[in-house]
Amino acid sequence: MSTASVRRPEGRARSGWRAPLALVALALIPLLAGTARLVELAGGPGLIPSDTRFTASPWAVAMHIVSAAVYAVLGSMQFAVGFRLRHPGWHRRSGRVLVVAGLGVALSALWLTLFFPPQPDSGLLLFVLRIGFGSAMIACLGLGVAAIRHGDVARHRAWMTRAYAIALAAGTQAFTEGIGSALLGDSPLALDASRGAAWVINLAVAEWVIRRASVPELRSEGRGATGSGERAGRGGVGAATTYEFRVEGHLDAHWSAVLGGLALRHDGDGTSTLTGELADQSQLHGVLAGLRDVGAPLISVRELAGSSRRVEHRQHPAPQRGVRE
Ligand code: HEM
Repeated sequence: MSTASVRRPEGRARSGWRAPLALVALALIPLLAGTARLVELAGGPGLIPSDTRFTASPWAVAMHIVSAAVYAVLGSMQFAVGFRLRHPGWHRRSGRVLVVAGLGVALSALWLTLFFPPQPDSGLLLFVLRIGFGSAMIACLGLGVAAIRHGDVARHRAWMTRAYAIALAAGTQAFTEGIGSALLGDSPLALDASRGAAWVINLAVAEWVIRRASVPELRSEGRGATGSGERAGRGGVGAATTYEFRVEGHLDAHWSAVLGGLALRHDGDGTSTLTGELADQSQLHGVLAGLRDVGAPLISVRELAGSSRRVEHRQHPAPQRGVRE
């Protein structure tokens, strides 16, 4: 029997609230500014300097701020993997709201860019960047929806992550603008470039997150080959083999279809068991990749009785923070 550990992404599995909290913290400055602007537009006290551009035509900026607040907060919760698994159906329901809110952010951003007088300290570069990234955000949302309609979870996650990264540049801009004006001065070009840097930074981080999730997490112990690769190396499987996968949390029923129609059982201890016949190693790898994409922490993979060989992969305890396996 060979054993392989499954490297759990640090800090992601059990509750996973750190990422959402960090993301909301990043969006905090524009969210607070937006709240103050809404208070002012509703006739309340002026908590921030008044801007006649917005008071003359408040609905577009109001729509922008409200949809941005919903998108930033609800979107951050999609990164709480443990929460998502404990609340089956939440991801799909909130995902629909998120797409509408995201489109609200991007469309209102394009409207503000095209039809509002520009900020006095901004120039052509920011205008072009806002049009470009506003349109790119709409495209990412569209591609994310199309991907999940085709059952492609990995692509769905990647496009939705990119859309979220584009929107959250509003938060990163609060920092890049300060640093940029200190380094480059306060000319419109310098300020535009500093604001633009926020999109570059956010998208770079998004790509890193996406690629990190795509790295195979099965690692062998003892003999150097990957646990599952070892079987493939012996010639693979000639006949279909029945496998049982156990994961943390109660998976939503629709993942069973996404994962090739495996039978799904919710167990009393808060785990899920997926069972089904797989034709070959590539299907086995497909299911493992699918579980990784879903974000379900893997506990064990078992080849069920009747198979000529028995291979068992068990989850090792999560590594200590800072300890690289
Ligand atoms: C979660 C994401 C976002 C938040 C929280 C946010 C927040 C805000 C707030 C609070 C304002 C009003 C500023 C004020 O009252 O002075 C604003 C304005 C604006 N936002 Fe956003 N925003 C977000 C995303 C975006 C994106 C992705 C774009 C462009 C692609 C964008 C483009 C604009 C534009 C053009 C304005 C008008 C700026 C002006 O002329 O003063 N926003 N945003």
